[in-house]
Amino acid sequence: MKEFKRYTVTTALPYANGPIHIGHLAGVYVPADIYVRYLRLKHQDVVFIGGSDEHGVPITLTARKEGVSPQKIVDRYHNIIKDSFEKFGISFDIYSRTSNKIHHETAASFFKSLYDKGEFIEKTSKQFFDDAENQFLADRYIIGTCPKCGAENAYGDQCESCGSSLSSDELINPVSVISGNKPVLKETKHWYLPLDKYENWLKQWILEEHKEWKTNVYGQCKSWLDAGLFPRAVTRDLNWGVKLPIPQAENKVLYVWFDAPIGYISATKELRQDWEKYWKDSETKLVHFIGKDNIVFHCIIFPAMLKQEGSYILPENVPANEFLNLEGDKISTSRNWAVWLHEYLEEFPNKQDVLRYVLCANAPETKDSDFTWKDFQARNNNELVAIFGNFVNRALVLTHKYYDGKLPQPSEITQVEQEIREEVFRIKSSIEKNIENYKFREALKDFMQISRIGNKYLADTEPWKLIKTNPERVKTIMYYSLQLCAINVILSEVFLPFTSLKLRNLLNMGKTDWEDVLKFDLLKPEHKINNAELLFEIIDDEKIEKQLNKLEKTKKMNELSEKTIDPQKEEITYDDFVKQDIRIATILEAEKVEKADKLLKLLVDTGVDKRTIVSGIAEYYKPEEIIGKQVCVLINLAPRKLRGIESAGMILMATDQDGSLKFISPEKITQNGSVIS
Ligand code: 2FM
Ligand code: ZN
Repeated sequence: MKEFKRYTVTTALPYANGPIHIGHLAGVYVPADIYVRYLRLKHQDVVFIGGSDEHGVPITLTARKEGVSPQKIVDRYHNIIKDSFEKFGISFDIYSRTSNKIHHETAASFFKSLYDKGEFIEKTSKQFFDDAENQFLADRYIIGTCPKCGAENAYGDQCESCGSSLSSDELINPVSVISGNKPVLKETKHWYLPLDKYENWLKQWILEEHKEWKTNVYGQCKSWLDAGLFPRAVTRDLNWGVKLPIPQAENKVLYVWFDAPIGYISATKELRQDWEKYWKDSETKLVHFIGKDNIVFHCIIFPAMLKQEGSYILPENVPANEFLNLEGDKISTSRNWAVWLHEYLEEFPNKQDVLRYVLCANAPETKDSDFTWKDFQARNNNELVAIFGNFVNRALVLTHKYYDGKLPQPSEITQVEQEIREEVFRIKSSIEKNIENYKFREALKDFMQISRIGNKYLADTEPWKLIKTNPERVKTIMYYSLQLCAINVILSEVFLPFTSLKLRNLLNMGKTDWEDVLKFDLLKPEHKINNAELLFEIIDDEKIEKQLNKLEKTKKMNELSEKTIDPQKEEITYDDFVKQDIRIATILEAEKVEKADKLLKLLVDTGVDKRTIVSGIAEYYKPEEIIGKQVCVLINLAPRKLRGIESAGMILMATDQDGSLKFISPEKITQNGSVIS
């Protein structure tokens, strides 16, 4: 395999249009961070690039909805996102943003260099335009019926139901998102990247020269390439984005997917004066960490741009992950079906590593995976607490008990210690191989193996018994156990950085690097360690129930909002309205109506009189719990007989979040007979 001198590692730039959730972490940022932390420990020259993607139509739509400028929206979310990454230990060398001047300059000059080479096709065509708003309707400004699957509300650039990528002229019955009007067609000029021209080169480069790419990535590229590539517009009629650096292109900007990946280059420029060696030297390994929805842009479009520009290197690998679901359902921002990172931290402060661990253990590396709170709890309690935490704690506590916290001088080593050394050697190289091949789940399993070995070592040798009969042997056992703890400090620096730091402090351990894993004398005899503290704590059922209830509530809210709201009834006059006599009344008595599951017979004090009303609320209320309640009653409704009982009036009800009927009651006790008008 080719050796590289340095690494440029990029992570998809999240849209600054909302906060980030566990899906982002699991798919992109945790694996990328593990990769980079590992490279750094191996003293590799690496730049780790992140930033916010601050252009694109959805941002302008949010701004419109809130009545503020797009800049205000991106400022807000850029800061929230940046903060979440920092708090979860995602160790970017820079977290930049595409609204920066340096990015606008870099992206514009990239466009200009292709433009000057005559690379673009200039084409005037008719595009949808909102006459009332005097605006072209790019991408998500237009919705309609998907021509592929028939779903309504497909966007001008993509149908979220079937995942097809669309162009707005394909939509059936298109409507402007801003005004709801039917758009008209109007001529406009745009610049197209002739992807068809690069098809053969891309086929050779990906399908022949990068057979080692992950199956999901290779497969997606192959199906794009097999279907044939077409010129793709890289400009838009919008006023938010990177302005076109050419004449006669007012109110036109670069398509967000043209400028965003150039953001990786701009950020590197911002970070380092010698940025060029990270982008233009063939001895640099460029790796893009992304989610599966970004594959075509990073494997086909961006490489085609880089290749045409001519002075840049191409990605060596694009280890895209599939999607993470939440409790069996697709994560969705609009349905609030997500675990937001800032909310997680409120519920589980200082438990960043638990989430990092669970998301890596269950990462959607080869297929979509599912995050469940029960699995989160089980992995914390049965793995982090019971295996890693338990081993370290036993080793530390026993060292304090037998040697006052000082490492003993080991005596002879036996076959057992020899085997442990061999096993650690094997684990280290397996972790290396797995990380270098983007198999982070496997690497994490390897890492946990160290603590499993440690636990087995203590359980098999039983130093707590031997201390009476063979104290010399116990010295070796404790010495070796502590070396395993020290190895855990180094390895967890890659996966669980907060825990690594805590354990390093407990062991009172100095600086280390990756190769130290094999040393087995990281802590010397007589070295004093600090008092034991638990690395992880049990997460109880109550905490998990709380999260599940929160999701249950979200689900109910969604179901309710998905229910079609009854259309408005026919118009009535004020005179019609005042004919209704609605009063506050108190329920005095309530009983079930025989042989009618749904009905309750109520005696109510309407202020005007005391009367009987039969109401269909038995499914929602027990008779005994409603006595004394105040409700609203329509008292001049003509009486009618229900199950032989004359009912004089109607209690007003509203549908609750869960679909059940609830009384409409006054905020505070009100006189019976008060008129509602
Ligand atoms: O899918 C997204 O969230 C995009 N904002 C990712 C952009 S990646 C890169 F090109 F900047
Ligand atoms: Zn569709």
